[in-house]
Amino acid sequence: MERPPTRSPSVPLLLAIESSCDETAAAVIARDRRVLSNVVASQSDLHERFGGVVPEIASRAHVERILPVIDEALKQAGATLGDLSGIAVVNEPGLVGSLLVGLTAAKTLAMVLGLPLVAVNHLEAHLYACCLAEGRDVFPAVGLVVSGGHTNVYDCRSVVDYELLGTTIDDAAGEAFDKVAAILGLGYPGGPAIAAAAESGDPRAFRFPRTFLNNERPQFSFSGLKTAVLYEVRGTPGSHREDPPPLTPPRIADIAASFQAAVTDVLIGKCRQAIERLGHPRLCVGGGVAANRQLRFGLQQMADETGVDLLIAPPEYCTDNAAMAGLGWELLERGRTAPLDLDVTPGLVRRR
Ligand code: KG4
Ligand code: ZN
Repeated sequence: MERPPTRSPSVPLLLAIESSCDETAAAVIARDRRVLSNVVASQSDLHERFGGVVPEIASRAHVERILPVIDEALKQAGATLGDLSGIAVVNEPGLVGSLLVGLTAAKTLAMVLGLPLVAVNHLEAHLYACCLAEGRDVFPAVGLVVSGGHTNVYDCRSVVDYELLGTTIDDAAGEAFDKVAAILGLGYPGGPAIAAAAESGDPRAFRFPRTFLNNERPQFSFSGLKTAVLYEVRGTPGSHREDPPPLTPPRIADIAASFQAAVTDVLIGKCRQAIERLGHPRLCVGGGVAANRQLRFGLQQMADETGVDLLIAPPEYCTDNAAMAGLGWELLERGRTAPLDLDVTPGLVRRR
């Protein structure tokens, strides 16, 4: 049997809960920011055959899993409910039904145990994952969150002050990976499947669009890229390319590699622009797509060229997890607690 991590009995502990999309997650984080447990129950198997997350299925699965996941997080941390000093919960942005399950569990625990409740923004938590991994405050920094639902650039002024500078006007980068994987007949989630297929492909085989790359605004668009891949695979309607070549494994590899190169070029270019504009010494990157090896490699090259200090969340903190909601400690210590009538905010809100 695995032994729980050692901790002195008096160390204050935060229980963090995350259920914004299709992962049911809970973590226990000590006041010194050590992550004592980080439990994630993935629902990928439930959504796979639909090629994307089905909100109603996600909510129902969260209801079944939330209590066992919280129990397991406490068990792995060697803690009980009585050891907790606060409850942090991700209440924005995300799927409304999914968010509500985590929020209801968190509010109930806070009320019953008489503990402070802290509301955490999912995207800020993705950036905070870089602090957790480093074990120190790493801000100010430029922040990039690249996930299945979001592609956002931030001015991270401090650990509790994140300004959203720009976002995507259509698909998120991860969503594009998932949709292109479906077009190519690869698995779900699409990011790892595309990355694997791209290993043997030529990233210069197809010149796919790099939308907004030469536009100074912190803005993204990936739907044109997705359509370009669709036309490459199925043919361009009304043109001589109505009959495209068959989708052989080498062709899939070349398309995957070329698509991945287009996405990473744009993400890296936009980070470079933000670094030049804001003059921060550091770039922090989080979110599921940050697990992509080509992106990590390209960002490191850019960081070496610009002299910026690059921090990318480790893969286990890139995809959705509750440890990153350890951001709740920063809020709790500053007295920024939430009332028990806290609600979810499903959409992306600009705070400034
Ligand atoms: O952050 P995350 O777990 O959930 C959201 O908040 O959306 O991100 C999930 C996204 C999915 O679209 C998935 O395809 C993508 O991250 N992803 C990747 C990789 N691993 C996960 N995309 C590219 N390369 C990867 N290795
Ligand atoms: Zn996420």
